[in-house]
Amino acid sequence: MVLYVYVTRLVRRPGIELLERECETVEINPHDRALTRDELLDAVRNRDGILCLLTDKIDEDVFKAARGAKGFANCAVGYDNVDVGKATEYGFPVSNTPGVLTDATAEMGWTLLLAVARRVVESDRFNRSGEWGGWGPMQFLGGDVTGATLGVVGAGRIGTAFALKSRGFDMNVLYADDIPNEVVEEQVGARRTDLDSLLRESDFVSVHVPLNSDTHHLISTAQFEIMKPTAYLINTSRGPVVDEAALVEALRAGLIAGAGLDVYENEPRLADGLAELDNVVLTPHTASATIATRGKMALMAATNLVAMMKGEPIPNFVNPEVMGK
Ligand code: DGY
Repeated sequence: MVLYVYVTRLVRRPGIELLERECETVEINPHDRALTRDELLDAVRNRDGILCLLTDKIDEDVFKAARGAKGFANCAVGYDNVDVGKATEYGFPVSNTPGVLTDATAEMGWTLLLAVARRVVESDRFNRSGEWGGWGPMQFLGGDVTGATLGVVGAGRIGTAFALKSRGFDMNVLYADDIPNEVVEEQVGARRTDLDSLLRESDFVSVHVPLNSDTHHLISTAQFEIMKPTAYLINTSRGPVVDEAALVEALRAGLIAGAGLDVYENEPRLADGLAELDNVVLTPHTASATIATRGKMALMAATNLVAMMKGEPIPNFVNPEVMGK
């Protein structure tokens, strides 16, 4: 079978090697940047399959341009960049990469939590500046983690892994989710509660929900107003789940103590004023960025794409309902 695929940005070798073994032509975006809209629309024409990324907006225009392709393999667990309803309407299978980035993402949640609570970035910056005049009893006082209350918003795969990694810190763990989660209840004694109670009681609130119309701006001014002024917000899910302008205002007004963010509402742009704040730690959407994890994601996406093109069962099928069409 002669297969022509397009990869919208270079991903790690294991994925590329699989595609090269299975396909006649593997064309990869030659730039070290996301494709422009016009480049994307052009690139998907006359392909059998497309391996795409969360920076690609895969919508109706793309589906029209990609007519004849066998599907889109998103190299990310989140797929809010893909209009799945339209994909199904146009008959395109869509896949994602769940599981392989769970621990890496949960680790980044903890990295941000500890860094912001213990003011690591701020104090590192100060130390490098040469201004440090020696140890001082009032320098860089932060928040305690051990024994604190941890609020996990969304206890799916990543929220669960994040909650379980609290074990060494003897925390009182709360979680908000529509579905009870026996794993976190049994292993860290987590208690399920509604979102408002979680926000009121937690010293650290970490967000792990997918982005959809229900979760857009789930955390905004009203939520900051009920959080403790000593609390920290951590977000490794999707930027628009948090109202970023409201967050800047909340941090300025002292409604909460700080935030650790890996994701932003309008990536790569940060909300006005965010970068000027000292009580934030801001990583550039790198939660899954370990060498091994990105390799596994690339391989998983490529495996899904090959299955789509060969008409075989798709391991991580986002819209299986498309098969009935
Ligand atoms: C994902 O997979 O959804 C992450 O945001 C990027 O790895």
